[in-house]
Amino acid sequence: MLEIRGLRKSFGNQVVLDGVDLSVKKGDVTAILGPSGSGKTTLLRCINFLEQADGGTMELDGRVWNLGHVSRREAMEFRRHTGFVFQDYNLFLNKTALENVTEGLIIGRKMPRAKAEDIGRQALEKVGLSDRCGYYPSQLSGGQKQRVAIARAVAANPEIILFDEPTSALDPELTGEVLAVMRRLASEGMTMVVVTHEMGFARNVSSQVIFMEHGKIVEQADSETFFEHPKEERTKEFLQLNRRGWEGGE
Ligand SMILES: Nc1ncnc2c1ncn2[C@@H]1O[C@H](COP(=O)(O)OP(=O)(O)OP(=O)(O)O)[C@@H](O)[C@H]1O
Ligand SMILES: [Mg+2]
Repeated sequence: MLEIRGLRKSFGNQVVLDGVDLSVKKGDVTAILGPSGSGKTTLLRCINFLEQADGGTMELDGRVWNLGHVSRREAMEFRRHTGFVFQDYNLFLNKTALENVTEGLIIGRKMPRAKAEDIGRQALEKVGLSDRCGYYPSQLSGGQKQRVAIARAVAANPEIILFDEPTSALDPELTGEVLAVMRRLASEGMTMVVVTHEMGFARNVSSQVIFMEHGKIVEQADSETFFEHPKEERTKEFLQLNRRGWEGGE
């Protein structure tokens, strides 16, 4: 469904993505793991054209994009089919939860307000926030803010949602509620690519795992194989270091 070939990106003379190939099937939950600075955020940002890659191709459901040369219009067209959930929520602070969810539908998609609000309420209900529609971000906990951001992504009815460390800014007790929402989305068949340090999520919810280092994919395998029978030495070392995060569940 999503097929990336030879994605390259440098900042100045630092090569950050060095020929990344990535393949995602419909309904897959792909966890991307890797040490800090390995290029995970840059990968997601290049996929969603928040960052312009230097080269590579991307195919989503038969449509092909040249990652190195993409027009604003093509980027917008791609984003109509994808959702993005940021580490720091990226909500409008002067808009309520419902307005945050409906803004893109009303402005971006020219949807009538009443219809957008209908969809927005449903999306907020899905993430357990039907009673917070009128709250502003400053009146919400971190976990609730992130759930609003997920509702916003879901409301746009995307083919795939990209998540960049959605729980890393959250206290442990709030992490659980966000992961629960993501687990439910996964079980409903949403295609998701999730950069995460949550090893339990990667082990128990994702269908495939990608381990990155220095801008390259070191290992890519289905989740069970990745955790139980990793091939690469570097992967084994990483799993050993993070053992406490995934053994014995979340
Ligand atoms: N806009 C930028 N300008 C220059 N260098 C950048 C920029 N964005 C990222 N980099 C560099 O690219 C490398 C990869 O960064 P990236 O944010 O993709 O890593 P990451 O794997 O997401 O790390 P983390 O786990 O800490 O979030 C880093 O060395 C970073 O300093
Ligand atoms: Mg990052």
